[in-house]
Amino acid sequence: MRLMVLIASTRVGRAGGPVGAWVAESARQAEDVEVDVVDLAEFALPMLAEPNHPRLKAYTSELTWEWSRRVEAADAVVFVLPEYNHSYSAPLKNAIDHLHGEWAGKPVGLVSYGGLSGGTRAVVALRPVLVNLGMRTLAANVEIAWVAEHLVDGVFLPSERHERALAAHLVALAELVPAVDTV
Ligand SMILES: Cc1cc2nc3c(=O)[nH]c(=O)nc-3n(C[C@H](O)[C@H](O)[C@H](O)COP(=O)(O)O)c2cc1C
Repeated sequence: MRLMVLIASTRVGRAGGPVGAWVAESARQAEDVEVDVVDLAEFALPMLAEPNHPRLKAYTSELTWEWSRRVEAADAVVFVLPEYNHSYSAPLKNAIDHLHGEWAGKPVGLVSYGGLSGGTRAVVALRPVLVNLGMRTLAANVEIAWVAEHLVDGVFLPSERHERALAAHLVALAELVPAVDTV
C-alpha cells in the first residue's frame, strides 16, 4: 500500500509536524506500506488560483500537477489535522479544493488533535467535504486531546491509547484499499 500522510497545519511551532512524524513512523512499521509524507508547510500550495474547476483537470500550475500526481499515486491517505475554531485547518481545505477526481474512491484515515476535543469538531466539519468528493472514510478516527501535553522537545510522545487507536485505524484503512489482482 502506498500511503500518503498529509500534515495539515503550517504554523511555526505547530504540533502537526511531530504528530505527523509519529503517524508516518507507525505506518512504516507495517509490512508492504510505503509512506509518502506531504507536509503542507513545505509543499506550499498557494491559495487556490487555478482558473478551471478541478473536475476538468486542466491545471495551469506545475505545482498543482505535482499535487495531482502525488495524490493519484497514493492508495490511501491519512490526514493529520488540527482543530482550529471548531473546524479543520485552512491549508487542508485549500489542498483538498485544488483537486477533484483524484480524491474519488480514495480511502482516507483521520488523525485529529487539539485541546479539549481532540479535533472531534474538526472531523465533524470535514466529513461532508470528504463525502462530496466520494472519499471512503472510516467510522472512527484517531483523536488526540490536549496535544501539547504530549510534546517533549519537538517530539510527540503518544499514550498507549493513542498507539492502539492508530494501529487499529491503519489496519482498518488498509482494509479499504482494493486488493491488487495478481492473477
Ligand atoms: C487559531 C487556533 C484556533 C484553535 N481552536 C481550537 C478549537 O476550536 N478547539 C480546540 O480544541 N483547540 C483549538 N486550538 C488549539 C489547537 O488545536 C492546538 O494548538 C493544536 O496544537 C493546533 O495544531 P498545530 O499546532 O499543528 O497548529 C486552536 C489553536 C489555534 C492556533
